[in-house]
Amino acid sequence: MPLDHALAELQDVTKVYQTGEVKVEALRGINLILKRQEFSFIVGPSGSGKTTLLNLLGCIDVPTSGKFTVLEREISTLTDNQLADFRNKHIGYIFQNYNLMAVLSAYENVEYPLLLQKIPKRERHDRVTEILDSVGLFKRKHHRPAQLSGGEQQRVAVARALVKRPELILADEPTANLDSKTGSEIIDLMLEMQSRYKTSFIFSTHDTEVMQHANKIITIKDGKIENVAQKERAST
Ligand SMILES: Nc1ncnc2c1ncn2[C@@H]1O[C@H](COP(=O)(O)OP(=O)(O)O)[C@@H](O)[C@H]1O
Ligand SMILES: [Mg+2]
Repeated sequence: MPLDHALAELQDVTKVYQTGEVKVEALRGINLILKRQEFSFIVGPSGSGKTTLLNLLGCIDVPTSGKFTVLEREISTLTDNQLADFRNKHIGYIFQNYNLMAVLSAYENVEYPLLLQKIPKRERHDRVTEILDSVGLFKRKHHRPAQLSGGEQQRVAVARALVKRPELILADEPTANLDSKTGSEIIDLMLEMQSRYKTSFIFSTHDTEVMQHANKIITIKDGKIENVAQKERAST
């Protein structure tokens, strides 16, 4: 049954990587409905297919077979240009290695997606300032990534993802390079941002300790969904 306002719907989705003669079935028949404004975790061991699934949800890659919609768009019907445009407008990304631009300050890194969208300078300034303040980095705005700690760099990355006001933010093992205290602070920050900006978050991790605040926990193993647990989120 199609669900109004679904964030994403996957039906029998597979992804096969073919490298020369070798085929890897990274996703083997995924059925999943994700709702908007939830904080979902995808959990599974290394190699289970988390990044592959996030790349599909983020429209960075396309499935080998199956039916697949994100924000009510049937992704297979979009041209490359339409897909790039859709990604730019609606989806933010946060990575394990932060992926900040080394020569730009924290402010400039966060401003960059707005430059791509040709947002006027005055509005860029207001939005970048607000979001840097929200993530607690206003005082560090002129620092470059190398002058920031790992946790601070990931805060910049969170701000950069949010500044576009996307409907969906994907975070692929964003705490994997952080110590556990800093990792929990980043998760708390994302939870706070999720409720403040009503953004949907999908967060992947192989660490089963970090997910007590999820609305939904999707456990994936060998390219298949093993379990989906829906729960009330613990208050922060
Ligand atoms: N670009 C690729 N080419 C070939 N095989 C790949 C590629 N990306 C991932 N895989 C394989 O697909 C499987 C799932 O990988 P991945 O989605 O990265 O898992 P996870 O993020 O859970 O560690 C693994 O067996 C991996 O080796
Ligand atoms: Mg991965």
